[in-house]
Amino acid sequence: MNAPRPLLELREVTAGYAQDIDVLRDIGLRVDAGRITGLIGLNGAGKSTLVKTICGFLAPKAGSILYEGQDIAGVAPHRLIDLGICCIPQESSLFPYLSVQENLLLPLLGRPARFGKEARTRLQEVFDIFPALQQKRSQAAGSLSGGQQKQLEFAKAWLQQPKLCLVDEPSIGLSPRISEEVFVWIERFAKAQMGILLIDHNVRRVVRMSDRVCVLSLGKITAEGAASEFQGDLHQQVQQWLGLHF
Ligand SMILES: Nc1ncnc2c1ncn2[C@@H]1O[C@H](COP(=O)(O)OP(=O)(O)OP(=O)(O)O)[C@@H](O)[C@H]1O
Ligand SMILES: [Mg+2]
Repeated sequence: MNAPRPLLELREVTAGYAQDIDVLRDIGLRVDAGRITGLIGLNGAGKSTLVKTICGFLAPKAGSILYEGQDIAGVAPHRLIDLGICCIPQESSLFPYLSVQENLLLPLLGRPARFGKEARTRLQEVFDIFPALQQKRSQAAGSLSGGQQKQLEFAKAWLQQPKLCLVDEPSIGLSPRISEEVFVWIERFAKAQMGILLIDHNVRRVVRMSDRVCVLSLGKITAEGAASEFQGDLHQQVQQWLGLHF
């Protein structure tokens, strides 16, 4: 295995929605190329806020967000797509009234460099992997089942071939079978040398899949390290990390 290469590095990032309330405080976090960093934390800890901050939907109040060594704090989301950053958000990123194919191709429009022969090959690849999307390519994305909509999110991301992919709660509301597929897909992304920030409520799964794990509690990173340090009695550890005393 090659030595990990830092793709994304957050340094002392503070962010929030209101001027006098910080949802994230002094966050340090790192994602390496071809590796998965797992982020776990209770509801409301600030996980999705962190994703929105990295993806340019929320400008940090302080700190730096280094992507390939360049500070991208406050850079607009569409510019970040050009730089190879892709987000599969907790809520849908699909346009429900556009067709499956239109949703897939939307991020490539106006980006001729990405819309070449290779993209067409990958579109076929995506349809081979998700035959339901090919069958329903002309149907409105909003008419798909929840599982198929999630497939469409991943297919759209794969088509963009990002360097960094942020995946927020991908298995929420899905059947165990579709969840399983989603995690196989994430591993495929990492094998293709993408760096992944993975957030999921299934702590055991996140620890098993990740190379590094970060624990976010009330907007602060309270534990961070190699996934191997996080194995063992997860139940008790999680209570400790999150400051829960039962
Ligand atoms: N658009 C917003 N405006 C104001 N406050 C917000 C907004 N979105 C989230 N918050 C607040 O920020 C805090 C962190 O929310 P966030 O959604 O980041 O948590 P989370 O860790 O992703 O939770 P969950 O596990 O439920 O997805 C919460 O107190 C939430 O109420
Ligand atoms: Mg969230």
